[in-house]
Amino acid sequence: MSKLWGGRFAKNTDVMVEEFTSSISFDSRMYRQDIAGSIAHAKMLASCGIISQEDATLIIDGLQGILADIEAGNFSFEVSLEDIHMNIEKRLTERIGAAGGRLHTARSRNDQVALDTHMYVREQVGEVAKLLFDLEQAVLDTASKYPDVIMPGYTHLQRAQPILFSHHMLAYFFMFERDFRRLGGVWESADIMPLGAGALAGTTFPIDREQVARELNFGRIYENSLDAVSDRDYILEFLAFASILMMHLSRLSEEIILWSSTEFSFIELDDAHCTGSSIMPQKKNPDVAELVRGKTGRVFGHLMAMLTVAKGLPLAYNKDLQEDKEGLFDTIDTVKFSLTVYAAMLRGTKVNAGAMRQALKTDFSNATDMADYLVKKGLPFRQAHEVVGKCVAYCLNEHKTLTDLTLTEFKEFSPLFAADILEAISVETCVAARNSLGGTSPTQVGQTIDIAKSVMEKQ
Ligand code: ARG
Repeated sequence: MSKLWGGRFAKNTDVMVEEFTSSISFDSRMYRQDIAGSIAHAKMLASCGIISQEDATLIIDGLQGILADIEAGNFSFEVSLEDIHMNIEKRLTERIGAAGGRLHTARSRNDQVALDTHMYVREQVGEVAKLLFDLEQAVLDTASKYPDVIMPGYTHLQRAQPILFSHHMLAYFFMFERDFRRLGGVWESADIMPLGAGALAGTTFPIDREQVARELNFGRIYENSLDAVSDRDYILEFLAFASILMMHLSRLSEEIILWSSTEFSFIELDDAHCTGSSIMPQKKNPDVAELVRGKTGRVFGHLMAMLTVAKGLPLAYNKDLQEDKEGLFDTIDTVKFSLTVYAAMLRGTKVNAGAMRQALKTDFSNATDMADYLVKKGLPFRQAHEVVGKCVAYCLNEHKTLTDLTLTEFKEFSPLFAADILEAISVETCVAARNSLGGTSPTQVGQTIDIAKSVMEKQ
């Protein structure tokens, strides 16, 4: 296939080089953006008197015909035409003749690819936002569904203090809510219109960038043509957003994997969301959570790769920048698929309140409450901590828990203990007493659920 840029070349491109430099195998997914961008460009060229209205009409009809062909599967993308931009332009000229050759007036592939990618990211941010919203809803529903379930809360993966299961889930809700906000920031960064930068320095034609921006619904225009063709911040921001989101999903996955183990048995995943073993008949594996945890590494890798690609580049466009797309596209696909399966998995998960309660019966997660009890009777906290520490050591020796101790035993550790101690360190009291703002008491968690619901209603 003859090249759109063939004029100065005496030789054909080496086939291997064509294959190496081509991006059509992955950038063809931006065909809608490329066509919409070209239509806006053609309209602007005509209204600024740079091309005739007849040529613009031919170009627009031709591009719409190409769009229909691509969507009907009647378009063959050629590696020798390098990328989506030249595949479409070449076909346009085949369809409409000389007028097709006027489309690229006052434009370069450098500002064209930037325009397409901005539009693509903007569109995908919208789709990811819907899926993230649905995940937030699934997390909030899970939190609301089990208002009374108490579980051990952990630090260092050691039982720490009793908490409401809803409280634990709500922590994830707010992480995902911050991700949602960050995604809004990515949209802002993608919503800047680069076309009109030309190859790097602007153009000699009297173009109207504002018109193109209006036509394509862009909120802003790049102020500097060099920046317009070199900026990949919006891609980096998407990758950073995705990395943080995947990190959150990966943390939740780790807990889901632990909780669904026989050792914990805190939750039961739906059969439909697990897989079996080809050798061990008893196995039911939490593959979804494990794969999301695994795919997190791959998304981090794409962020690191893009940062590295960009770090040494002189202005303006360099071919290195073509490396921006595969990682971006793979991240978009990975995040969308992960969010979709994750929300479904959460909705199918059952909480085993009995196992959580059983865990609390055998631990010392009420020890802080016992110390607080002594503090409320006048003992300085440090001394109370020491007293309870001794009680715990005693219990460990005797194979008892704190609630197994008799009042006589309690009193040996401190005369401040009275008959109300057992009530003061019951699991329900421990949870209800943590009524500080944002704490785990049913009152606080109820209010937090209301806050979360109103956050969702505003979106
Ligand atoms: N396929 C290229 C990319 O993805 C388009 C821009 C190429 N421009 C150039 N002068 N080689 O970045």
